[in-house]
Amino acid sequence: MKTEAVVQFADRKRSLIEDARRERESGSPSPGASRCADNFVFEEKNGKVTLNMVFTLSSEKKSSLSKTGKVFETFEAKIQHIETRPRRRTKNCVVSDLEYFIRCEVHSSDTDALINSLKRVADDVRAIAEEKVPWFPMKIGDLDKCNHLITKYDPDLDQEHPGYSDPDYRKRRAFISELAFNYKQGDPLPRVDYTLEEIATWRKVYQTLRSIYPTHACRQYLETLQQLEKDCGYGEDSIPQLSDVSSFLKEKTGFQLRPVAGLVSSRDFLASLAFRVFQCTQYIRHSSTPMHSPEPDCCHELLGHIPMLADKEFAQFSQEIGLASLGVSDEDIERLSTLYWFTVEFGLCKQDGAVKAYGAGLLSSYGELKYALSNEPEYKPFKAEEAAVQPYQDQTYQPVYFVSESFEDAKAKLRRYSLTIRKAFSVRYDPFTCSMEVLDQPGKIQNALSQMREDLKTLHNALEKLV
Ligand SMILES: [Fe+2]
Repeated sequence: MKTEAVVQFADRKRSLIEDARRERESGSPSPGASRCADNFVFEEKNGKVTLNMVFTLSSEKKSSLSKTGKVFETFEAKIQHIETRPRRRTKNCVVSDLEYFIRCEVHSSDTDALINSLKRVADDVRAIAEEKVPWFPMKIGDLDKCNHLITKYDPDLDQEHPGYSDPDYRKRRAFISELAFNYKQGDPLPRVDYTLEEIATWRKVYQTLRSIYPTHACRQYLETLQQLEKDCGYGEDSIPQLSDVSSFLKEKTGFQLRPVAGLVSSRDFLASLAFRVFQCTQYIRHSSTPMHSPEPDCCHELLGHIPMLADKEFAQFSQEIGLASLGVSDEDIERLSTLYWFTVEFGLCKQDGAVKAYGAGLLSSYGELKYALSNEPEYKPFKAEEAAVQPYQDQTYQPVYFVSESFEDAKAKLRRYSLTIRKAFSVRYDPFTCSMEVLDQPGKIQNALSQMREDLKTLHNALEKLV
């Protein structure tokens, strides 16, 4: 039997994965390279294109840099970068030992004419294919820019939303959304005084789910939930505050929360995980449907995600998905979102000879949690490359669940999968500065190795003291 809770997470899944697909198809967040007839790579923006060209100057054409400069001047091309590079000699040409690289911005209608003019005064004019890397946050403060919302489930816009015809609910949502819109990284997390009606909705969800956790949730989840109940205001009588929960997580695994006004885009959501930041909604679902919400809400976040983020291995796993997502193509974002879906949202794991749930979509959905651990669904051993492309259904329970041997095992498989993602660079997170370091120079790799050597020395000393 299909329950309302199924619809909730089917919708959430659809939005996460299809959002990534839509981004890829529209190309809007990361404009890809276009090509003109001469195969010159460029990006187009506001009628201007950016050209990346290489050419040489030969004595045969009596060419000079000043002549090429005149060409750029004629077409009012704005030179953004120019450099010389050593050139390899080919057997049949007499050219200089240098080639010139120029990046310039020119009006798109002048592109072909500029290239043809340049060919008259220079040799071997060709495009240089530069890797186009989608923007990603380099420091934790950049997460203020990672707040692109998917508005399709907004109660103000979606007629199917249970709160659509309730002006008071929409007003309340707008108030809580405003808190998130105004938030900047480093600000104190906003506190919300939940109403009695909101607490009653929370109570219903809490009581229903709490009754089956002991038999269905994994060990790590249960252990943390007990601590949250003891130290962090978890219980049926109050909705925990993000600031308290964030402090709790910070002590456990370094994860922290930041408020978000609704469903955020896949790329932005995954990027925040790379910084051990979890984007967390603060509003609650409509009181008429306590077991159903078309979008993530505080019940899903606080009961589904938070307890698992306090586990060290799981936190590391979550961050690694985030790190893998930085600067990758929209196709890879879609695959990583799917992988995230079948692990962090709907993952199962083996424990003491039984299968238990660790996915937030399961742990916040009574109906699917029971179904996932019944004899009905198909189980597959977790393989990252398989989970990343697993087809899903929109209107029912998951067609298949992936069962991990352990979080450590899942992490190792995720790492192997990440290495297969086409990426021109590697990044490393610096927890001291809360920033990303692009490891694109030998010196940076050397520095990272030096730090690792120091850590190894500390461990070696510790071992010596034990024996
Ligand atoms: Fe979620």
